[in-house]
Amino acid sequence: MIRLGVLASGGGTNLQALLDACAARRVDAEVALVLSNVPEAGALARAARAGVPTSCLPSKGVTDRAAYDEAVVASLREARVELVCLAGYMRLVTPAFLRAFGPSPSTRGCPRVVNIHPALLPSFPGLHAQRQALQAGVRISGCTVHFVDEGTDTGPVITQAAVPVLDDDTEATLAARILEQEHRLYPQAIQWIAEGRLSLDGRRVRLDRAIPPAERLRSPAAELA
Ligand code: GRF
Repeated sequence: MIRLGVLASGGGTNLQALLDACAARRVDAEVALVLSNVPEAGALARAARAGVPTSCLPSKGVTDRAAYDEAVVASLREARVELVCLAGYMRLVTPAFLRAFGPSPSTRGCPRVVNIHPALLPSFPGLHAQRQALQAGVRISGCTVHFVDEGTDTGPVITQAAVPVLDDDTEATLAARILEQEHRLYPQAIQWIAEGRLSLDGRRVRLDRAIPPAERLRSPAAELA
């Protein structure tokens, strides 16, 4: 059972998917701490409802990013967190944070901070990924689980799911269709990590051969055809 620390700034539906997957034993992990930089984040309420310890470190007006992240790392360490999952966490983490959760002897080169992003990276990193996809006119978007590095959504890709972009989509309808896949994809990726099935080779995340091809990439767009 690995101990997860989930960092979230918003509603926390991805946190909920992780909590549900842990409770249902689909993921061999437990959420040891949910930390938010936003006092009114729905994620904190979801954690409290699930009986998971929470911590809130308001970031409004904070200018010293290094000191802020030191406090975050201290909270995560105190909760003996082994893997940090960013789930709608609207802050860039500092290099010192990433060093604190860098590869350990058991992770085969993989860092210990992961994120989920609502686009097929490297397309549409940063804010408003769904709006960016609509404005670009792409027919397929999706979501990506990736290891976190110092850039904005630039770390090595672990897994992706494709989602069709339909003619009458709005940002909201596309976001909802992507979110459905996020809730499936994130727990799956965490389970692979919990099972020690990933390794990092340069920028490429290698998946254990025992993982069937259909689990590595799901393409609902193709299924619609
Ligand atoms: C998700 O779309 C996630 O990919 C992005 O922020 C959103 C968070 O949603 N990073 P929620 O708070 O998990 O509902």
